[in-house]
Amino acid sequence: MTKEFSGKVVLITGAGSGIGRASALAFAREGAHVAVADITEAGGRETVALIEAAGGSARFFQVNVTQSSEVASLIRQIVETWGRLDITLNNAGVDNDMAPITETSEADFDKVIGVNLKGVWLCMKYAIAQMEKQGGGVVINTASALSITVLPGASPYNASKHAVAGLTKTCAVEYGAKNIRINAICPGVIRTPLLENHPNLAEMEKGLIPLHPIGRLGQPEEVANTVLWLASDKASFVHGALITVDGGWTAM
Ligand SMILES: NC(=O)c1ccc[n+]([C@@H]2O[C@H](COP(=O)([O-])OP(=O)(O)OC[C@H]3O[C@@H](n4cnc5c(N)ncnc54)[C@H](O)[C@@H]3O)[C@@H](O)[C@H]2O)c1
Repeated sequence: MTKEFSGKVVLITGAGSGIGRASALAFAREGAHVAVADITEAGGRETVALIEAAGGSARFFQVNVTQSSEVASLIRQIVETWGRLDITLNNAGVDNDMAPITETSEADFDKVIGVNLKGVWLCMKYAIAQMEKQGGGVVINTASALSITVLPGASPYNASKHAVAGLTKTCAVEYGAKNIRINAICPGVIRTPLLENHPNLAEMEKGLIPLHPIGRLGQPEEVANTVLWLASDKASFVHGALITVDGGWTAM
């Protein structure tokens, strides 16, 4: 039986962990060739090993998404490897240290804006150029519920994710007529290392769970399921949208 993404070439940044890894495994299970891109070699290689152990196709590409030469080279290498780029999930992201703006450092702001905003901007710029050349593609950005609402103490993160929403809509308008479908997913709080490595996890959970009317935090696989739907032809008329996967957080 033909799998849903048989032979498709999918790039996922931040695929060495969390939502990126879950999405990489899910695309590979559905027959895609997955470019596992991450700044962290160990995580990226582990994702590739997991995919290969399950009989899938993947290759690790080490990249820092804040560096334009590295992102340009990443797209080039993917095309050299598999001949094209059908789908990209611009997902690499980092958190800030929770603090009100007066106590937030400029370095933290630069780090978060660099990865979460400039990184997505660069990945879109070079991936869309390739998709234009080949006549189409699908772009999905990992935004956040914090593209819609805010968490006090997270000014750099909130700003970066609101900006990703603006970037998504801008490029959707620019490239809709060129057969390039562009959307963002907006997860609520998901149980990934980004959260679970937090020193006060138990305390944090007490505050975070009540934000979600569904009464729990999300799992990376629940976000991956939405990503695969959005990348598929089932979502062929979904364009320029911010798709929430947030247990109802932003409905409140
Ligand atoms: N976990 C959540 O609750 C949640 C909620 C909403 C949105 N998000 C977003 O989802 C995305 C994935 O988050 P996650 O929770 O899976 O986090 P994670 O920390 O598990 O994974 C993020 C990955 O990005 C990689 N990365 C970081 N900086 C990079 C860089 N400069 N270049 C390349 N790769 C880099 C890391 O090495 C890591 O493997 C992020 O954009 C995050 O903001 C997460």
